Amino acid sequence: MDRNSNPSNCASQMLRTLVGCALMGLALLIATVSPLSVSRAQGADAPTVLITGSNRGLGLEFAKQYAAKNWNVIATARNPDAADDLQALAEQYPNVAIEQLDVTDRDMMDALAEKYRDQAIDVLLNNAAILRGPTPDQMFGDIDFDLFDPYFQTNAMGPLKMSQAFFEHVKASDQKIIAALTARAGSFTSSSRGRNFPGIYFYRGSKAALNKFMSQLARDIEEDGVKVALLEPGIVIHDRDPDEEGRSFRGLVDSEDSIAGMIKVIENLTAEQSGKVYRWNGEEIQF
Ligand SMILES: NC(=O)c1ccc[n+]([C@@H]2O[C@H](COP(=O)([O-])OP(=O)(O)OC[C@H]3O[C@@H](n4cnc5c(N)ncnc54)[C@H](OP(=O)(O)O)[C@@H]3O)[C@@H](O)[C@H]2O)c1
Repeated sequence: MDRNSNPSNCASQMLRTLVGCALMGLALLIATVSPLSVSRAQGADAPTVLITGSNRGLGLEFAKQYAAKNWNVIATARNPDAADDLQALAEQYPNVAIEQLDVTDRDMMDALAEKYRDQAIDVLLNNAAILRGPTPDQMFGDIDFDLFDPYFQTNAMGPLKMSQAFFEHVKASDQKIIAALTARAGSFTSSSRGRNFPGIYFYRGSKAALNKFMSQLARDIEEDGVKVALLEPGIVIHDRDPDEEGRSFRGLVDSEDSIAGMIKVIENLTAEQSGKVYRWNGEEIQF
C-alpha cells in the first residue's frame, strides 16, 4: 500500500505541516515586534542601561559616559525632537537609541516596556525629575499647592512605576540594578537641615517619598537578586563657565566627576548596600 494512502500517515503529515506553519508564524511575529533599535552596534553581549530624562543635565552626561563605555543606551526624553544634544550623541554612537518617555504617563511607560520586552536591562536609571531652586511659589505662606501633583508624580511615583514596568527586564539581566537619583534636600539628617535653601517643600517631600519607596523596593525584590542604588549626585550646575563665581560654592561637583562616581557606585553595589543612599563619591548618607 502507498505510504501516503494510509489515513494515519496522512493525518500525521498534516499535523507536522500545521505545526511547522505555526512555528514559522510565531518566529515571524517575534521578529516583527522585537525591539529594533537597541543592541544595533554592540550586539547582545554589551550591557544595557535605560535612562529617564536623558536629553539634558545629569541624564545626558550619564548617556554620554555609558555610550563611551560601549553599553547599549536606551536614552529616553519627553521630547526627542527637541533633544539636540542627545541626537548628536546618537549620531556619534550607534549604540544609543532614543525613545520618547514621560515618566508621569503610565501607559507610555507600559508601552515602552512592552516594546523592549525581550531586552534585558542591566541598569534602569531613574534620573528624570522636576527640580528648581527656592521659588516664591514654594515659600511658606505662599505655597502653590497645585505643584504637589507634578512634583510627586514625576519625582516619586515615576521611578516606582518605571521599576514595576521594567522589573522583568532588569531581573533578566546580568547586573540587575534599579537606580534612582535622590537629593540631600529630601534627607532628614542633612547637616544644613534646609537652612541654605528655604522652602522647596514639594521637591524635598517628593525626594523623601522616593527614598522610602526605593528602600522598601530593595527589600521587596532582594530575593530576585535585583539591587536598588539610591544615588546623591552632589550639587551639580550644568553648562557652567568653570571660572564663574558658583565654583566657590561649598560642595559643588563637576558633572563628569559626579556621573563617573555614581557609575562606579552602581558597578560596585553589594546586596547589603541595596536601598541605602550613597553620594556620588561612594560615601553613605543616612536619610
Ligand atoms: N543638579 C543637581 O545639583 C542635583 C542635586 C541633587 C539631586 N539631583 C537629581 O539628579 C537628577 C537630574 O538632575 P538634573 O540636574 O540633571 O536636572 P535637570 O537638568 O533639570 O534635568 C531634569 C531632566 O528630567 C526630565 N524630566 C522632567 N520631568 C519629566 C517627565 N515628566 N518625564 C520625563 N522626563 C522628565 C527633564 O526633561 P525636559 O527637558 O523635558 O524638562 C530633564 O531631562 C534629578 O533626579 C535631580 O533631582 C540633581
